Amino acid sequence: MIEVKNLTKHYGAIRAIDNLTFSVGSDTTGNIIGFLGPNGAGKSTTIRILSCFQPADSGMATVAGYNVFTQSLDVRRNIGYLPESAPLYTEMRVREYLHFRGKLHGMSRRDRDNAVRSVTERCWLGDFVDRPIGQLSKGMRQRVGLADALLHDPKVIFLDEPTIGLDPMQIRETRKLIRELGDRHIVFLSSHILHEVEQICTHAIVIASGRILASGAPAELRERISAGSRLIAEIKGSPDAVVAAVKSLSGVGAVESDTQDEWTRLSIEANGAGDIREEVFKLASEKGWSLREMRREVASLEDFFIKITAEQRTGRG
Ligand SMILES: Nc1ncnc2c1ncn2[C@@H]1O[C@H](COP(=O)(O)OP(=O)(O)OP(=O)(O)O)[C@@H](O)[C@H]1O
Ligand SMILES: [Mg+2]
Repeated sequence: MIEVKNLTKHYGAIRAIDNLTFSVGSDTTGNIIGFLGPNGAGKSTTIRILSCFQPADSGMATVAGYNVFTQSLDVRRNIGYLPESAPLYTEMRVREYLHFRGKLHGMSRRDRDNAVRSVTERCWLGDFVDRPIGQLSKGMRQRVGLADALLHDPKVIFLDEPTIGLDPMQIRETRKLIRELGDRHIVFLSSHILHEVEQICTHAIVIASGRILASGAPAELRERISAGSRLIAEIKGSPDAVVAAVKSLSGVGAVESDTQDEWTRLSIEANGAGDIREEVFKLASEKGWSLREMRREVASLEDFFIKITAEQRTGRG
């Protein structure tokens, strides 16, 4: 549904996106795609290009089967776009604004009536349709922007940081709404919140400094870092003996320790993806040491993100 090949865009000397290639919105990626990266990564630039709001320097992109450079009218008919800050007309009332937008899409009066009713319901705007947009909270305005993006029932919806600036309750509601959108649309959303992408997306593309660093299902990405996952264990015994014995186990990498009140708290790095819990348990029972905690600290996408962006910065990625 969204195909991007060698897409590159400069602003003067700044290379905002650098040779991006990806293909999403198929059965393999699922319907909710997260475009994840820190500030300045190139997320908005990519979304603006894919929504035909800005040209690229080189490369190719198709959305819903249409070329974004040569068939922009067809692309626009098939997409909805929620920009970073929705350019709403603050003096208009919600219903009036959505009708106005519907007219721009060339919808008939009757289609507009139906569409406005449907999107205001889906975006929980029912009680606000007669309020001037300028009087709405940021969260409510964001919903108006979303309703606008959904108005013509597009196949693909681009959401640029849809939860930024919202309070926790509004964030929760917006995420719920996005999950629901995935039933009927392909949703391509940008975010710098890893937890958010982990929560709502079926596929994630990690981007930093205009380059793709990784892509896959959030769970797959987590799997890829499971080699870096840690085991936390607390063992009572002579601290030096405990640390030395744990270090000597096969499958154990670096070990950090901290002793308090006879208990040594170990943070054990696994060498490879194997589970070392059983070995640690056996060791403790053989030596007659008490063991009071043992849990695996599964690395989050956040850890992965920090790791790969750091690697990229130091030129090792
Ligand atoms: N209109 C512009 N003129 C010049 N440089 C720009 C322009 N828009 C973006 N850039 C630069 O291009 C790079 C990518 O910016 P972009 O806005 O696409 O990143 P982003 O991932 O959306 O960041 P953010 O998380 O801050 O929204 C940045 O270095 C940015 O400073
Ligand atoms: Mg942006």
